[in-house]
Amino acid sequence: MHKRVKKAVFPAGGLGTRFLPATKASPKEMLPIVDKPMIQYAIEEAITCNIEEFIIITGKYKRAIEDHFDSAYELEENLKKTDKKKLLEEITRLNHINFAYIRQKAALGLGHAILCARPFVDDEPFAVLLSDDVIEPEETLLLDMVGLYEKLGCSILALEEVPVTEIHKYGVIGGIASEDGIYKINDLIEKPTKEKAPSNLAIIGRYILTPEIFGILEKLTPGRGGEIQLTDALRELLKKQSIYGYIFKGKRYDAGDKFGYLKATINFALKNPEVSEPFTQYLQDIAQMLKNKRHNEDRKSVNYSIPLKDNII
Ligand code: G1P
Repeated sequence: MHKRVKKAVFPAGGLGTRFLPATKASPKEMLPIVDKPMIQYAIEEAITCNIEEFIIITGKYKRAIEDHFDSAYELEENLKKTDKKKLLEEITRLNHINFAYIRQKAALGLGHAILCARPFVDDEPFAVLLSDDVIEPEETLLLDMVGLYEKLGCSILALEEVPVTEIHKYGVIGGIASEDGIYKINDLIEKPTKEKAPSNLAIIGRYILTPEIFGILEKLTPGRGGEIQLTDALRELLKKQSIYGYIFKGKRYDAGDKFGYLKATINFALKNPEVSEPFTQYLQDIAQMLKNKRHNEDRKSVNYSIPLKDNII
C-alpha cells in the first residue's frame, strides 16, 4: 500500500516578469480571475483531492498571499453587521485550513522552490500545483493523478498535447503509451527547441512527486535560464524510478501569460452567475462590432483595388 498524498506544495516565489508592472510589488498569484486570486483556484483544487497540508513557497513582495488566507476579523465583523451573509461565507470558507509558508530567499527556479518545501514534506509523496496553470474547477485532473499514484506508487506528471509552436515554453517528455492517456516516460527536456523536442507532450503545472526528488534537487546544478529546473531533477529521478505521464484533455489556461490570462478571465466570467448574462451580451455586441468593422474594411480594400485609370472616366 502506497502512502496517501496528503501534502501539496504551491510555488509562488517567482518574479512574475510577464505581468510587469502589475507584479512589481504585488504577487502574480494574487491577480484575480473575475473575483478570486489565481492561487485560490489551485488551493480549492487541492481541497477536492483531500489534501490536508498546504505549503506555499513565497518570496519578496508576496505577503499579500499570507494575508489573503488569514482570517480578516474587521471585515468579517463588518459583513456580519451589514448582514452580507453570502460574502461572509465566501471569505471565511477557507479559514479552517492550515497553511505553511516558506520564503524562497532568491528566485532560483522551480526546482529550488520545491526543494524549499523539504522540511515540511519530509519522506512523503506530495502534489505540486503551479497556480498560473488554471484548470476549470469542474475538471478532476489532480484527483485522477492522485488515483494513479495510489495504483502505481511513482511520480505522475500532467501532460498536454501542445502545438509545435508552443513547445519551447514547456518541459517536454518522451515516452511510450502504456494505457489510454497514460505514458511511461523515458525522456524529459526543459523548454527544448522544436527540433530537439522528443514529442509534443508538454508538462503542465500539476505533479505528484515522490520524496526522492529532494536528494536530487539538492545536488542539481542550474539548467535552462541559469535556474534549478524541476524537469532536470525528474530526468535524474528517471534513472532510479519510473515516472508516468497523464494526458489532460480538459480545459487549462496558461494564465502566466497575458493572452492566456485574458482567455481564463473571459471563460470564467461567462460562467459567473453575477455577470454571465450581461457579459455574454457584451461579448456578442463586441463580436458584431468586429464583424461590421471587418466588413467595412473588406469593402474599402475592394474599392482600392480598382485601377486608378478606370476611376477617371
Ligand atoms: C514550468 C516548468 C515547465 C512546465 C511549466 C508548466 O515552467 O519549468 O517544465 O512545463 O512550468 O506551466 P514556467 O512556466 O515556470 O516557465
